[in-house]
Amino acid sequence: MLNYRNGLELMPSYDGVERSYRIKVNANESTLNLPPTVEERVLNRLAMIAFNRYPGEEYRSLVEQIAKNFAVDASQILLGGGSSEIIEKVFHAFGGAGRKVVFPQPSFSMYKIYAKAAESDAVPFNLDAQFDLDVDAFIAKIREVGANLAVVCNPNNPTGNALTPAQVEKIAASIECAFLLDEAYVEFYGQSAVNLVAKYPNLLVARTFSKAYGLAGVRVGYMIAQAEVTRMIDKAFMPYHMNVLSLATADIVYQMREEFVPRLQMIIAERERLAQRLEKISGVKVFPSNTNFLLIRLARAEELKNYLESLNIGVRYFAPTAFGLKNCLRISIGTIPENDEVFAAIKHFLEAM
Ligand SMILES: Cc1ncc(COP(=O)(O)O)c(C=O)c1O
Repeated sequence: MLNYRNGLELMPSYDGVERSYRIKVNANESTLNLPPTVEERVLNRLAMIAFNRYPGEEYRSLVEQIAKNFAVDASQILLGGGSSEIIEKVFHAFGGAGRKVVFPQPSFSMYKIYAKAAESDAVPFNLDAQFDLDVDAFIAKIREVGANLAVVCNPNNPTGNALTPAQVEKIAASIECAFLLDEAYVEFYGQSAVNLVAKYPNLLVARTFSKAYGLAGVRVGYMIAQAEVTRMIDKAFMPYHMNVLSLATADIVYQMREEFVPRLQMIIAERERLAQRLEKISGVKVFPSNTNFLLIRLARAEELKNYLESLNIGVRYFAPTAFGLKNCLRISIGTIPENDEVFAAIKHFLEAM
């Protein structure tokens, strides 16, 4: 018998399984591939890569661009294989047996898995029925349990709502432990807290190229914090953990990020259009969203998910055990024709079946 690490057998796995659908709106990805002008430059850049060399210059180039954009020092930026790697390392760096990590629920399902991987105790804090966070009670909870790390996803996945910058600042100012703000969807909201990093040495902001920049397959994310914090978190990473293909791709995409503005605007406009149409269907509750997805609640959610699957449309359904998400479906915003087809299918199911 192989003797695995204690607890590995009981480690929960990520509950999303990727498969291809004709309309794939289950994973909050961009349903559009790169804009053609960006793709062309990426391919030209990839043709110039020194495959035989460890990455170095490519890492620095992307870090410098990001630092310049946020007017911070390059020492304040760390890159990761998606924001997933960064979040996992932050949990690792502030984790350990007996340490507590507090985060709202429902939220990104990986937080409890990262807590477990870091051998910390996950302390979920319940959002209210509208998925709002009682900020004062959250702060009180962090203090009461003597947390080592607090994590907030803003805007929140899968609920779509967001804390205001003032609420984020209140949390940062009121707690002494590390505060990781996961801004995976912030480009669809527009109100980042990166500017607070200069003021709060406990604030770490994680961002990703996977959502707004459509690079989910490339796996690049970044973190912004004070230099002393990045110096410590950096110790948790392996040498050369970022591959040169991803770095070069993200470098070009970031240089050309203006090219993504029209599609961001399209997604935001489509989110509102789809929300308004869905709200008109009797029995469908649409939660307000600041992201690239909508969360809806309806009595026959699982049946609807199965019906959509039969049409080769993938949406995200949550297990009945997922806190607060009973009868909920999460639908990412696609192109206009995709959203029209998803809407028509939902309407047909609820009104004619
Ligand atoms: C809230 C949140 N954080 C982080 C991630 C991880 O994204 P990535 O590792 O692709 O940057 C996701 C992915 O869905 C997410 O929803």
